[in-house]
Amino acid sequence: MKTISAKDKIIVALDVEDLPSALKLVELLHDDVGAFKIGKQLFTSTGPDAVRSIHGLGGRVFLDLKFHDIPTTVAKASVEAARHGVFMFNMHALGGSAMMREAVRAVRSEPGMQQPLMIAVTVLTSMGPGDLQPLGITLPVDELVARLALLAKEAGMSGVVASPREIGLIKKACGPEFIVVTPGIRPAGSDANDQKRAMTPAEAVQAGADFIVVGRPITHAPDPEAAARSIAEQIAAA
Ligand code: C5P
Repeated sequence: MKTISAKDKIIVALDVEDLPSALKLVELLHDDVGAFKIGKQLFTSTGPDAVRSIHGLGGRVFLDLKFHDIPTTVAKASVEAARHGVFMFNMHALGGSAMMREAVRAVRSEPGMQQPLMIAVTVLTSMGPGDLQPLGITLPVDELVARLALLAKEAGMSGVVASPREIGLIKKACGPEFIVVTPGIRPAGSDANDQKRAMTPAEAVQAGADFIVVGRPITHAPDPEAAARSIAEQIAAA
């Protein structure tokens, strides 16, 4: 993969409820960050208008809808995501190998379409062993993450979303080219909010993160532009 600049590694999570609030942030930040993450909240409230409007302002979009369904349905939804011209979108690796493979095949065989990065979610960081055991999943979380990452790689996915502390084991299992996108990022001295095992931008990039997802440390900062620039400087210095 080609080297990604410090600014382009930053994906801002637009965890807001309406389009005007999202676009205010995009106008302010699109020169200072690499992309904007649209999640279930914003997409459910505004639909694809959010994607189109962000593109209209010159921003790139990570569509974080975490698809998980039968292979045909996910493949069709994936093609629609790609048709919107997003630069990255995701699905759950727990949807299985056939689901990921079918989605990759469908998107990659669309002629003339801009090709997005296809990212898998391994195990949600909100889930610990106590949540997995009742589901009949008895593997240690780390092993499960590595196994699902490898399954995603073998299915042709571009990379995974993972917590910063899992970067090392994923790169070991899947190789340095396999992309890791990591949330749970907190610049030194900033409020942890509800993130329990956060890393600083510099630590995450040193650990091998290709992209970092940052929400509140930028979006709730008194000066979001300055906050984004400072994070890019910390990454560049790392
Ligand atoms: O505001 P903050 O930086 O905590 O936002 C992080 C973003 O990354 C949110 O959109 C959150 O839903 C998402 N995320 C996360 N941890 C995960 C997966 C996604 O924080 N394991």
